[in-house]
Amino acid sequence: MNGPRDILVTSALPYANGPIHLGHLVEYIQTDIWARFQRMRGHRCYYVCADDTHGTPIMLRAEVEQVAPEQLIARMQEEHLRDFTEFHIAFDNYYSTNSQENRALAEGIYLKLKARGLIESRTIEQLYDPVKNMFLPDRFIKGECPRCHGQDQYGDACEICGGTYQPTELINPYSALSGAAPIRKQSDHYFFRLRECEDFLREWTRAGHLQPEAANKLNEWFTAGLKNWDISRDAPYFGFEIPEAPGKYFYVWLDAPIGYMASFKNLCEHAELNFDAYWGAASKAELYHFIGKDILYFHALFWPALLHSSGYRTPSRIFAHGFLTVNGEKMSKSRGTFITARCYLDHINNPEYLRYYYAFKLNGTMEDIDLNLADFASRVNADLIGKYINIASRAAGFITRRFDGELAAPVHCPEDARALIQNSLDVAGPIAENYEGRNYGAVLREVMRVADTVNQYFDRHQPWLLEKDPVRKEELQLVCSKSLHAFYVLSVYLAPILPNLTERVARDLFGLDQGFNWRDLDTLPARIRPYRHLITRIDPKTIEALVAANRESLKPSTIAPAASRATETITVEDFGKIDLRIARIVSAELVEGADKLVKLTVDLGGAQRTIFAGIKSAYAPEQLVGRLTVVVANLASRKMRFGVSEGMVLAAGAGGKDIFLLNPDEGAQPGMRVK
Ligand code: MSP
Ligand code: ZN
Repeated sequence: MNGPRDILVTSALPYANGPIHLGHLVEYIQTDIWARFQRMRGHRCYYVCADDTHGTPIMLRAEVEQVAPEQLIARMQEEHLRDFTEFHIAFDNYYSTNSQENRALAEGIYLKLKARGLIESRTIEQLYDPVKNMFLPDRFIKGECPRCHGQDQYGDACEICGGTYQPTELINPYSALSGAAPIRKQSDHYFFRLRECEDFLREWTRAGHLQPEAANKLNEWFTAGLKNWDISRDAPYFGFEIPEAPGKYFYVWLDAPIGYMASFKNLCEHAELNFDAYWGAASKAELYHFIGKDILYFHALFWPALLHSSGYRTPSRIFAHGFLTVNGEKMSKSRGTFITARCYLDHINNPEYLRYYYAFKLNGTMEDIDLNLADFASRVNADLIGKYINIASRAAGFITRRFDGELAAPVHCPEDARALIQNSLDVAGPIAENYEGRNYGAVLREVMRVADTVNQYFDRHQPWLLEKDPVRKEELQLVCSKSLHAFYVLSVYLAPILPNLTERVARDLFGLDQGFNWRDLDTLPARIRPYRHLITRIDPKTIEALVAANRESLKPSTIAPAASRATETITVEDFGKIDLRIARIVSAELVEGADKLVKLTVDLGGAQRTIFAGIKSAYAPEQLVGRLTVVVANLASRKMRFGVSEGMVLAAGAGGKDIFLLNPDEGAQPGMRVK
């Protein structure tokens, strides 16, 4: 090994408007393992993070909760840090983007960009909520999809047909905040001239800072053409006001990555570190950002461009990972698999089970990783406990009982005992390489392979028989000692993944005064202390209870539209909630000012309802009167620009002329339930 390295690592800053969940933990656990590995190897490795606190969702949530945004983010930061700490995520600093350091750094970077002619201002037109008096981010505008005419779709993408579009293309748009029809309004915005950085970025992309899959993604973006980046938002906005631009704020994604620097800067103040040695253009330190694949654009394009253009160093590498699925599907609230860190801790008392399983699944690529709950329990029980812990729990008793804790000296070894220890030490190199390459799955496969050989060795010598034979006492000590030495070596390897468990092994069993270090491989222990219970098997029932509890705690959230409305399969119970009825169309009329809508009065076998349906392109009103069709009778009424709609008629087709009302015949009567 050369001299110690100076390393700064980060995980993406979690949004302050939601709890930490098992998806997030993929990233924080992955980073923490890597940072711990580096520290164990004797490098200086700092791991910083922070809450990402700015933006419209936080501002609105604070409004709903009737607290100041500062109060809300302080509470969230505390909750986040508590969750992380219980999962043994060991940050050197956990800070906030709403900090003095971050404001100063963001302003400084912006002013440098401006001085270099990299900021331009332009007037743009956006949708504006005339009731809330604010511009609406895409996610806060809903309406009918211009492609498939699905109702209640978000301003940027349709969850039914997957189409993407501009919010201004939505049919009958309404504000998700007030329900009002938005108006178009102009405003001056500031743009970072990303296109000026294209040459630099093309070169940077090719220079080994990215995984191959990520570099390919960037090439696609280059081919599509870079666009200048809108970095400003209008008041009201929770964030930093832009210097010399009253009423204009930095877009949250501008100051968020600068939050990495701010958190480190804050650490420097306490830890006597030199900020410039890590962030200055001439820095020799290594800088790594762990992120999810969804935020690659921000980290691989905007971020290096911002840093480079404002006179700072750029990241050594960006490490992107894939997304978590649970039982092969996107985490889902209705299936009970949208599991928060807190809920996990409440039901499964050991966070290291999850660290172990994620490590087992991670391989350093951008592939998604699946938490299969049945596999999770059986891996932990069969491998971690059944193979690794099993060695110590079986061998230690003999040494304590018969040899007063003394291990056989590593001399005079028979060949199989010598080979056992040699094999376990020989994998140190490959294991270290796999840690470095974030291929923790390969680390664990090596560890478990060695554990298998140790268990086979132990079983072959049958110490329970040796114990009964006084003549073979020495052999008993040797077999158990070699098994425990191998266990010690494996514990060193596992330390980054299982810091708490292995620290108890180091202290309680081997009598070290702290957790393991890589150098501990150089000295095998001479004694053990009495074995104390280390870890319990997972009871699969606790996992069932966790999922069930999550399903029950399903509360509709007040806002947070982005998180709460994913396209998911529904259960039979969900489907049973939809009240489908036959209706007769009593009257139909055109709606003045609406391109697509027909106003229907339908008879549900007694009661009459008004429904606005986007079927004008396919049916003239006179074609509709008297027909039977199927409606969703228990849809909540919705105020639209032209009146209140009290249900929905079901139709099929691609749109335009091709829309077909579901048209029951064979004696259906208004009011009949459709099964
Ligand atoms: N606030 C931004 C990041 C700003 S970094 C300057 C953000 N926050 S987040 O809370 O949505 O996500 C934080 C990190 O967790 C991201 O890297 C994201 O990719 C990761 N994950 C969030 N959900 C995830 C899964 N379901 N699976 C794996 N990682 C996930 O993005
Ligand atoms: Zn659509």
